[in-house]
Amino acid sequence: MELPVSLDPSGRQSLQRQLFDQLRGLILSAGLRPGTLVPPSRLLARQLGVSRNTVVLAYERLSAEGYLQARSALGTFVSHDLPDSSLRVDAGRAADGAAARRQLPRSSLAFRGRAQAVVSPGNLEFDFWLGRLDPTLFPLAAWRRLVNQVLERVDSGFTEYRDPAGLPELRTAIADHLRPARGMKVEADQIVVVAGAQEGLNLIARLLLREGTRVVTENPSYQGAAYLFESYRAEVIPVPVDEDGLCVDALPPAGAAFVHLTPSHQYPMGFTLSRERRLKLLDWALRTGAYVVEDDYDSDFRYRGSPLMALMGLDQAESVIYLGTFSKSVGAGLRVGYLVLPRPLVEPARTVKALLDNGHPWLDQAVMAEFIASGAYDTHLRKIRRTYLARRDCLIDSLRNHFGDVALSGTDSGMHLAWHLPAHFPSAPELQGLAAERGVGVYSLRSGAAHDFGGCAYSESTLFFGYSCLDETRIRAGIGRVADALRDWQRARGTSLRPARACSGR
Ligand SMILES: Cc1ncc(COP(=O)(O)O)c(C=O)c1O
Repeated sequence: MELPVSLDPSGRQSLQRQLFDQLRGLILSAGLRPGTLVPPSRLLARQLGVSRNTVVLAYERLSAEGYLQARSALGTFVSHDLPDSSLRVDAGRAADGAAARRQLPRSSLAFRGRAQAVVSPGNLEFDFWLGRLDPTLFPLAAWRRLVNQVLERVDSGFTEYRDPAGLPELRTAIADHLRPARGMKVEADQIVVVAGAQEGLNLIARLLLREGTRVVTENPSYQGAAYLFESYRAEVIPVPVDEDGLCVDALPPAGAAFVHLTPSHQYPMGFTLSRERRLKLLDWALRTGAYVVEDDYDSDFRYRGSPLMALMGLDQAESVIYLGTFSKSVGAGLRVGYLVLPRPLVEPARTVKALLDNGHPWLDQAVMAEFIASGAYDTHLRKIRRTYLARRDCLIDSLRNHFGDVALSGTDSGMHLAWHLPAHFPSAPELQGLAAERGVGVYSLRSGAAHDFGGCAYSESTLFFGYSCLDETRIRAGIGRVADALRDWQRARGTSLRPARACSGR
């Protein structure tokens, strides 16, 4: 380790005194923390171009005053117990410095924003937080093998800058996957690899937003999107959703730069955008010149019917920007996602990605490319789809066992579902609180990484359950505790369970 010390041979103080003062300053400002090994005197003397004796004498004085401690053969370390008197002197100086610093004019912060909730806020025994993956399902053995395989033939992967749009092998593998899986006419050169859907949203915002730009989102919507657009000081226009997805008739007649939506499995309600509305939406985009941002965060998990064709597959007019992520299928910690762009946006998007970070890390891309191209991704998807389906069925079964004909939405796909509570139940936020008291995390609209722009019909009456991260035993136990919580609530109010309304599983 080289120390940030420089000595002035023509200075008034001796070299030894300068060195003592500077090392003492480093120790007191925590630049050298207690327990840090300082360089051997010979090395420091060579670094500073002074005689070794100068360093030895400075170290001896620092040791004598309690700043350093020699530990025989191990070397010399910064003391854990620094002399109180010097600390007091320094604290006084630091306070003076802080006061002086406070008086300096500072640039005002250009950024204004809030962070979305992506992890569960509580530490609950049975946590139905939305969109979480089960760590035991991560394809660790395949991943380890592929990392080794890729590293064995690495040439300039780690040392060279590459195409900021992403590794050609990964872009090809993604395009080959999307064509049959999502019915999209996509070529590899339309793809930009990003650090998860959130970076993709940022990239889109950089391309299309400035202060006051009009952007449409669903109401309720994904917090990460709503908060991002808000941070750009865009004019965010919330449009309600119902059982057929975004209420397309309520879109503004003109002036929006784009609409962000989750058509396959609306976040968080779970509704699917009907075919009729898909066509109407594309027509609206064509008429108004707006882009459609199709956030396809969890469409790999469809449990009923054929896979849905993506909006981009229906688009004839280059209106749709498709946003995909591996966060829900492989792991959110990998931070790998991608954008599929209409041709006119490809080059600007590549430039934005270059300005952001010069491209995604090479190793992650190379491994993901192999994972998809080798067929391991499809095998993995089939496995977790089966597991999630069993967990979804277990959750529905448990809810029915305890509460009768429950009204659910979002059950056909994804990793979470919504329960529309009967009128005689406590409100969703209240039931969330009662469940949390028993160690169970279930989420009302405003707490589950969703954003309610106000006036949302589902805020008080809908409770959300992510089921992908809990096995069947835990799902049953968790729902049993929610039932206990409800029974106690009813007992306290002197009411009894009335038959719930008819089920409308969607
Ligand atoms: C609708 C939606 N879009 C985007 C994301 C962000 O995903 P990523 O981890 O790829 O940034 C999420 C994450 O939960 C999501 O639910």
